[in-house]
Amino acid sequence: MPKPIYIINGPNLNLLGQREPDIYGYQTLADIEALCTKQAQAHGYQIVFSQSNIEGELVNQIQAANKLGSAVVINPAAYTHTSVALYDCIKACELPVIEVHLSQPHAREDFRHVSYVSQAAKATISGMGAQSYILGLDAALHLLTLN
Ligand code: DQA
Repeated sequence: MPKPIYIINGPNLNLLGQREPDIYGYQTLADIEALCTKQAQAHGYQIVFSQSNIEGELVNQIQAANKLGSAVVINPAAYTHTSVALYDCIKACELPVIEVHLSQPHAREDFRHVSYVSQAAKATISGMGAQSYILGLDAALHLLTLN
């Protein structure tokens, strides 16, 4: 069994389903976890799925993935636009890291147009709702098959 793919979620994503559904949709984080589990299993991978509202816990999760996982799919949520700590951590991570967003930040407020995470991640997928996670997972799986 290969090492698992870590899927890491940032602040307020625990509120999906009730949080601004016109932007983020009606699927809950548990719904997204179920979709990701199915997609990963179809390719012979397990996932480790987590969410935290705390920046340092996201750093800890990425560091854990670097030791125990094969790839990272991360929706850093608001920390996308502010976090040098996540940038540094992803730079230090030896695994492929794919950034995903439900919405398309570049079509929203100006402060969402900067992503510290994009400057360190291997690829970014955004604007596809929950499907962004599946496409992110597919991107990670693709990179893993190249190795
Ligand atoms: C988000 C986009 C971010 O700008 C925002 O702060 C979020 C969610 C997305 O998935 O679309 O919390 O990462």
